[in-house]
Amino acid sequence: MASRIPQEFIDQLLDRVDLVELVGERVSLRRSGSNHLGLCPFHDEKTPSFSVSRDKQLYHCFGCGAGGNALGFLMEFDRLEFPAAVEVLARREGLPMPDDQRGDDGAGQARTRAWHGLMEQVARYYQAQLSEHPAGAQAQRYLAHRGVDEASAKAFGVGFAPPGSGHLVQRFAGQEAALLELGLLGRSEGGRLYDRFRHRLLFPIRDLRGRTLGFGGRVLGDGHPKYLNSPETPLFHKGRVLYGLFEAMQARPRPDRLYFVEGYMDVVALAQAGVAGGVATLGTATSRDHLQLALRRVSQLVFCFDGDQAGRRAARQALETALPLMDDGRQVHFLMLPDGEDPDSLIRRGGAAAWDEAVARAQPLSEYLFAELARQVDLSTVDGRARLASEARPLLALLPDGAFRLLMTEELAARTGIAPSAMRELLEPRQPPLAPPERARPETPAPRRRRAGSVAPERWRHRLPPERLALALLLQQPQFAAQVELPAELAGARDGATRLLLRLMERARRDAILSPAALLGHGFGFGEQELLAELATIEVPLAPEAARVEFAAALKRLCERERSSELDALLERPLAELSVEDRKVLNELLQRPGRGD
Ligand code: UTP
Ligand code: MN
Repeated sequence: MASRIPQEFIDQLLDRVDLVELVGERVSLRRSGSNHLGLCPFHDEKTPSFSVSRDKQLYHCFGCGAGGNALGFLMEFDRLEFPAAVEVLARREGLPMPDDQRGDDGAGQARTRAWHGLMEQVARYYQAQLSEHPAGAQAQRYLAHRGVDEASAKAFGVGFAPPGSGHLVQRFAGQEAALLELGLLGRSEGGRLYDRFRHRLLFPIRDLRGRTLGFGGRVLGDGHPKYLNSPETPLFHKGRVLYGLFEAMQARPRPDRLYFVEGYMDVVALAQAGVAGGVATLGTATSRDHLQLALRRVSQLVFCFDGDQAGRRAARQALETALPLMDDGRQVHFLMLPDGEDPDSLIRRGGAAAWDEAVARAQPLSEYLFAELARQVDLSTVDGRARLASEARPLLALLPDGAFRLLMTEELAARTGIAPSAMRELLEPRQPPLAPPERARPETPAPRRRRAGSVAPERWRHRLPPERLALALLLQQPQFAAQVELPAELAGARDGATRLLLRLMERARRDAILSPAALLGHGFGFGEQELLAELATIEVPLAPEAARVEFAAALKRLCERERSSELDALLERPLAELSVEDRKVLNELLQRPGRGD
């Protein structure tokens, strides 16, 4: 198995190698000013346009655009995978490979294991506080007031974070660094450590093995924010975990359908009422990962949303995320609850019977889709029906091939009065085999591992979180880096892929890199090699202008995500500690619509 090579080692290696020598062993170079010049090994040429800079330790071909550092050169010239290129270079420089890569992997695994162990202890500590801490009684009263019985609280591992701060530091002395990493502690500007969760009921968020990854904490009664969630941590990524899925899969018999509800309390209430299969997305939009987690286990989903405007928007978003996954045999229903009602309140008033009744009224995806579209048009007019066809078209185009897609096409035909054959034609050459991504220079040797069409045109977008999508687009069109603002919000991003994106954007701008091969060459050695290699194989089926719009949109989404974690961080600090500047930022962030939580 390829294991990660530590970035420090790569940096050390790149510092040591002399690119002019390395290239000189394979290409004949002659001095020209401060550079060395030769015939480019990556394309056919008669006059030398391949230049190697000793100062910069970079090569660049003015003819085909190839370029990069020593590792990029070895990979391209010797056709090596990244780890092999590192090994070749290390041998050449007489540096021992970071000793025993398995050992290194093992160290990473040991750290992750330690984190999981600590999370478990913390979860147990919080559970114990429910009965041990003097204020625990208040939390128990709140649970009772919400109708949660002891067995349910236990099954979901509900705990209690006592009021005040300093509990974790005291209880888990010496493990502050890990607690910080896991989002359980925060650090004030003055450097003081404080407990993230204070005076809250805690819902542990578990993975499918039952390991606690993070928490959602509810105030006892009224207060702001109502729920405080763990931030993104090395263990917890809220776009990739479904609250309640572990507990749902423990039920016997296993549920054959899952209910996507909005809140922690809804999940608990469903389970307590004997309805297995409630899961929640924790205040974020339904992601493709969420759906795949679910669809790997059941083939029926029911999305439950508030009937209000926000609920309808969320439902529409869930619909679009679900469409590409609608393989034949899968069933998705939409349940819009009356305004002001949620599954928890419904069940509290009418028990499981009320729930079953509501579920029986849920709309199948097909009906929901057409009903939603029909809301916006007048089907009694020709214009209205044409409009319906044009609104439905991009949605149906998201469907995978199969019987369901055909049936939906026929349904659209029936609803618009367009003959089915004409409708199929209208829909068919879906988005035209989207103009082959224009390459600036077709003679550029394509980076080797790029497999044309490795992602079906209508699907690629949904596979990628924004930082990866932006990276994939940038790798194809490096000029984008110079065409959009480098978002300041991202400067503090901690996620590796986002940092790689920023470094590549900076580099592309600074060195005016315009060719994919050159950018790729630079990217190797910046960390996240495996990711980079993978993204380079994605063919984004968009014309340059559309791709640029996509790129800008991905950056925007990325900024939104970053902002919402910034917001989390500010919200959980005591107001008194916030500087004037912090408060201004907080105010601004709070005014923005559509924050996650
Ligand atoms: P709701 O505001 O609908 O609350 O948020 P709820 O689930 O009905 O909560 P109760 O019944 O008053 O306890 C739905 C979900 O959105 C997330 C939580 O996951 C919550 O369960 N949320 C909400 C947050 O993360 N933060 C918030 O401040 C509010
Ligand atoms: Mn509720």
